[in-house]
Amino acid sequence: MIKLISTEETHPLRKSVLGENIPNYQYIYKGDDDEKTLHFGWFENETLGGILTAMKTEEKIWQFRGMAVSQSHQAKNIGSQLLQFASNYLKNEAEVIWLNAREKVVNFYLKNGFTAASDFFDIKPIGLHLKMSKLNKENIDFNHKLH
Ligand SMILES: CC(C)(COP(=O)(O)OP(=O)(O)OC[C@H]1O[C@@H](n2cnc3c(N)ncnc32)[C@H](O)[C@@H]1OP(=O)(O)O)[C@@H](O)C(=O)NCCC(=O)NCCS
Repeated sequence: MIKLISTEETHPLRKSVLGENIPNYQYIYKGDDDEKTLHFGWFENETLGGILTAMKTEEKIWQFRGMAVSQSHQAKNIGSQLLQFASNYLKNEAEVIWLNAREKVVNFYLKNGFTAASDFFDIKPIGLHLKMSKLNKENIDFNHKLH
Protein backbone atom coordinates (compact mmCIF):
# COMPACT_ATOMS: atom_id res chain seq x y z
CA MET A 1 0.00 0.00 0.00
CA ILE A 2 1.08 3.59 -0.63
CA LYS A 3 0.53 6.36 1.91
CA LEU A 4 1.95 9.71 3.01
CA ILE A 5 4.96 9.51 5.33
CA SER A 6 7.12 11.97 7.28
CA THR A 7 10.40 13.49 6.10
CA GLU A 8 12.29 11.42 8.69
CA GLU A 9 10.83 8.15 7.41
CA THR A 10 12.47 8.79 4.01
CA HIS A 11 15.96 9.02 5.50
CA PRO A 12 16.94 5.32 5.80
CA LEU A 13 16.09 4.51 2.15
CA ARG A 14 17.55 7.77 0.86
CA LYS A 15 20.80 6.89 2.65
CA SER A 16 20.97 3.20 1.71
CA VAL A 17 19.61 3.29 -1.87
CA LEU A 18 20.28 6.79 -3.21
CA GLY A 19 23.42 7.25 -1.15
CA GLU A 20 24.91 3.86 -2.01
CA ASN A 21 28.58 4.33 -2.98
CA ILE A 22 28.29 8.12 -2.62
CA PRO A 23 30.31 9.36 0.36
CA ASN A 24 28.53 12.13 2.28
CA TYR A 25 25.37 11.87 0.19
CA GLN A 26 23.13 14.80 1.14
CA TYR A 27 19.98 12.92 2.06
CA ILE A 28 18.31 16.01 3.53
CA TYR A 29 16.87 18.18 0.78
CA LYS A 30 16.04 21.88 0.85
CA GLY A 31 12.27 22.08 0.98
CA ASP A 32 11.74 18.70 2.67
CA ASP A 33 9.72 20.29 5.45
CA ASP A 34 7.89 22.94 3.40
CA GLU A 35 4.20 23.02 4.08
CA LYS A 36 3.37 21.85 0.54
CA THR A 37 5.96 19.09 0.30
CA LEU A 38 4.64 15.52 0.20
CA HIS A 39 6.50 12.29 0.96
CA PHE A 40 4.98 9.05 -0.31
CA GLY A 41 5.87 5.58 0.96
CA TRP A 42 5.17 2.09 -0.39
CA PHE A 43 4.68 -0.48 2.36
CA GLU A 44 4.65 -4.26 2.49
CA ASN A 45 2.99 -4.99 5.83
CA GLU A 46 4.84 -2.58 8.14
CA THR A 47 8.01 -2.42 6.08
CA LEU A 48 8.77 0.66 4.01
CA GLY A 49 10.08 -0.52 0.62
CA GLY A 50 9.84 2.55 -1.60
CA ILE A 51 9.80 6.36 -1.32
CA LEU A 52 9.10 9.42 -3.45
CA THR A 53 9.05 13.12 -2.53
CA ALA A 54 7.00 15.76 -4.37
CA MET A 55 7.83 19.46 -4.05
CA LYS A 56 5.98 22.41 -5.52
CA THR A 57 8.44 24.56 -7.52
CA GLU A 58 6.08 26.99 -9.27
CA GLU A 59 2.36 27.48 -9.66
CA LYS A 60 1.00 24.16 -11.05
CA ILE A 61 4.55 22.84 -11.42
CA TRP A 62 5.95 20.13 -9.13
CA GLN A 63 9.27 18.31 -8.87
CA PHE A 64 9.62 14.64 -7.94
CA ARG A 65 12.72 13.87 -5.91
CA GLY A 66 14.31 11.18 -3.81
CA MET A 67 12.77 8.24 -5.67
CA ALA A 68 14.10 4.98 -4.27
CA VAL A 69 12.99 1.36 -3.99
CA SER A 70 14.89 -0.96 -1.65
CA GLN A 71 17.23 -3.37 -3.42
CA SER A 72 15.14 -6.45 -2.65
CA HIS A 73 11.97 -4.85 -4.02
CA GLN A 74 13.37 -3.38 -7.25
CA ALA A 75 12.00 -4.29 -10.71
CA LYS A 76 8.62 -5.32 -9.26
CA ASN A 77 6.72 -2.27 -10.52
CA ILE A 78 6.80 -0.49 -7.15
CA GLY A 79 8.62 2.58 -8.48
CA SER A 80 6.09 2.87 -11.31
CA GLN A 81 3.22 2.55 -8.82
CA LEU A 82 4.71 5.32 -6.68
CA LEU A 83 5.02 7.65 -9.70
CA GLN A 84 1.44 6.93 -10.73
CA PHE A 85 0.05 7.33 -7.20
CA ALA A 86 1.82 10.65 -6.62
CA SER A 87 0.86 11.99 -10.08
CA ASN A 88 -2.75 11.09 -9.48
CA TYR A 89 -2.67 12.53 -5.94
CA LEU A 90 -1.55 15.83 -7.50
CA LYS A 91 -3.97 15.80 -10.42
CA ASN A 92 -5.58 19.12 -9.38
CA GLU A 93 -2.33 20.72 -8.21
CA ALA A 94 0.28 19.77 -10.81
CA GLU A 95 -0.04 20.41 -14.53
CA VAL A 96 3.62 19.67 -15.11
CA ILE A 97 5.83 17.26 -13.17
CA TRP A 98 9.60 17.33 -13.63
CA LEU A 99 12.61 15.60 -12.15
CA ASN A 100 16.35 15.18 -12.53
CA ALA A 101 16.87 11.56 -13.54
CA ARG A 102 20.12 9.77 -12.85
CA GLU A 103 21.59 8.56 -16.16
CA LYS A 104 21.14 4.89 -15.15
CA VAL A 105 17.38 5.18 -14.70
CA VAL A 106 16.36 7.41 -17.62
CA ASN A 107 14.66 4.38 -19.22
CA PHE A 108 12.55 3.84 -16.12
CA TYR A 109 11.15 7.37 -16.40
CA LEU A 110 10.70 7.12 -20.20
CA LYS A 111 8.56 4.03 -19.56
CA ASN A 112 6.53 6.09 -17.13
CA GLY A 113 5.70 8.86 -19.59
CA PHE A 114 8.47 11.37 -18.89
CA THR A 115 10.47 12.90 -21.75
CA ALA A 116 13.82 14.66 -21.85
CA ALA A 117 13.73 18.37 -21.05
CA SER A 118 17.47 19.12 -21.15
CA ASP A 119 20.85 17.75 -22.15
CA PHE A 120 22.73 15.62 -19.64
CA PHE A 121 24.39 17.63 -16.88
CA ASP A 122 26.58 16.75 -13.92
CA ILE A 123 25.39 16.93 -10.33
CA LYS A 124 28.47 16.37 -8.18
CA PRO A 125 29.22 13.95 -6.57
CA ILE A 126 26.40 11.79 -8.00
CA GLY A 127 27.03 11.98 -11.76
CA LEU A 128 25.16 12.68 -14.97
CA HIS A 129 21.48 13.62 -14.81
CA LEU A 130 18.80 14.41 -17.37
CA LYS A 131 15.97 16.80 -16.62
CA MET A 132 12.73 15.09 -17.61
CA SER A 133 9.11 16.21 -17.50
CA LYS A 134 5.56 15.20 -18.27
CA LEU A 135 2.19 16.84 -18.52
CA ASN A 136 0.15 15.48 -15.66
CA LYS A 137 -3.02 15.63 -17.77
CA GLU A 138 -1.73 12.73 -19.87
CA ASN A 139 -1.42 10.62 -16.76
CA ILE A 140 -5.05 11.19 -15.88
CA ASP A 141 -6.20 10.15 -19.37
CA PHE A 142 -4.00 7.10 -19.13
CA ASN A 143 -5.53 6.11 -15.76
CA HIS A 144 -8.97 6.66 -17.16
CA LYS A 145 -8.35 4.20 -19.98
CA LEU A 146 -7.25 1.56 -17.47
CA HIS A 147 -10.54 1.59 -15.56
C1 LIG B 1 14.80 3.54 -10.28
C2 LIG B 1 13.87 2.83 -9.33
C3 LIG B 1 13.21 3.84 -8.40
C4 LIG B 1 12.80 2.10 -10.15
O1 LIG B 1 11.88 1.46 -9.28
P1 LIG B 1 11.50 -0.07 -9.55
O2 LIG B 1 10.39 -0.43 -8.63
O3 LIG B 1 12.74 -0.88 -9.48
O4 LIG B 1 11.03 -0.01 -11.09
P2 LIG B 1 9.79 -0.69 -11.81
O5 LIG B 1 9.77 -2.13 -11.43
O6 LIG B 1 8.55 0.09 -11.58
O7 LIG B 1 10.19 -0.47 -13.31
C5 LIG B 1 11.08 -1.35 -13.91
C6 LIG B 1 12.05 -0.56 -14.76
O8 LIG B 1 12.89 0.25 -13.97
C7 LIG B 1 14.25 0.16 -14.43
N1 LIG B 1 15.01 -0.44 -13.35
C8 LIG B 1 14.59 -1.24 -12.36
N2 LIG B 1 15.59 -1.55 -11.53
C9 LIG B 1 16.67 -0.93 -12.01
C10 LIG B 1 18.01 -0.85 -11.57
N3 LIG B 1 18.46 -1.48 -10.48
N4 LIG B 1 18.86 -0.11 -12.31
C11 LIG B 1 18.43 0.52 -13.41
N5 LIG B 1 17.18 0.49 -13.87
C12 LIG B 1 16.31 -0.22 -13.16
C13 LIG B 1 14.22 -0.65 -15.68
O9 LIG B 1 14.05 0.25 -16.77
C14 LIG B 1 12.99 -1.50 -15.51
O10 LIG B 1 12.43 -1.87 -16.70
P3 LIG B 1 12.64 -3.39 -17.25
O11 LIG B 1 12.12 -4.28 -16.16
O12 LIG B 1 11.83 -3.44 -18.49
O13 LIG B 1 14.10 -3.51 -17.46
C15 LIG B 1 14.62 1.79 -8.47
O14 LIG B 1 15.16 0.80 -9.29
C16 LIG B 1 15.71 2.39 -7.60
O15 LIG B 1 15.46 2.79 -6.46
N6 LIG B 1 16.95 2.48 -8.14
C17 LIG B 1 18.10 3.00 -7.40
C18 LIG B 1 17.93 4.46 -6.97
C19 LIG B 1 17.71 5.41 -8.14
O16 LIG B 1 18.45 5.39 -9.11
N7 LIG B 1 16.66 6.23 -8.00
C20 LIG B 1 16.29 7.21 -9.00
C21 LIG B 1 17.08 8.44 -8.88
S1 LIG B 1 16.64 9.63 -10.13
